[in-house]
Amino acid sequence: MAVFVSGRGSNLQALIEGIAEHGIPAEIALVVSNKPEALALERAERHGIPTAVFSPADFADQDAFADALLKRLYETEIDLICLAGFTLILPYRLLAAFPQRIINIHPSLLPAFGGKGMYGMHVHRAVLASGAKYSGATVHIVTEEIDGGPIICQEVVPVEDDDTPETLAQRVLEVEHRLYPRALQLMVEDALEINGLRTRIKQRAD
Ligand code: GAR
Repeated sequence: MAVFVSGRGSNLQALIEGIAEHGIPAEIALVVSNKPEALALERAERHGIPTAVFSPADFADQDAFADALLKRLYETEIDLICLAGFTLILPYRLLAAFPQRIINIHPSLLPAFGGKGMYGMHVHRAVLASGAKYSGATVHIVTEEIDGGPIICQEVVPVEDDDTPETLAQRVLEVEHRLYPRALQLMVEDALEINGLRTRIKQRAD
């Protein structure tokens, strides 16, 4: 699998640790960042994971960017992509090349507080401004609709009266770190049945 990052990489770290601790049959073979300065790249290197920087600004157009990225993913024999704080909207070619094989973590209870411009601290500010009493985290399958694909799993987090965007973000992040390895496990064990926007754990015969 590949993990796509843009920043701090705490979810990348949670995936690395989750794979080891829970014996998830997955190998992070590549970490891709669109930003060369992302702290996540250092984390990957510390764990001996190959990294690559792909920034659209370095390519003539979106197609050239997508082609170069796809070439690297195919060379590395990637068959699952986890977005972990990746701030770019994926080119259509990439989505088409990995149908139902790209997952994303989002710091709210989707479909609330998702969509274009809703990432990181923007999400937590919007939650507080709305007066919502609960927020949470969601892992979902990535489709053409931003933050709109089938939901794999979610966990609820209460909003406290004295929360700031930062304190809420921290409480949600703790949940993200246990939710993402769980979602990864469901994906690699092919445990999910997907029906429209709904997913459920497959009933096994044994
Ligand atoms: C996480 O909170 C993740 O849910 C969010 O960015 C943060 C990345 O932190 N992603 C989005 O908002 C996607 N729309 P990290 O780099 O420490 O994993």
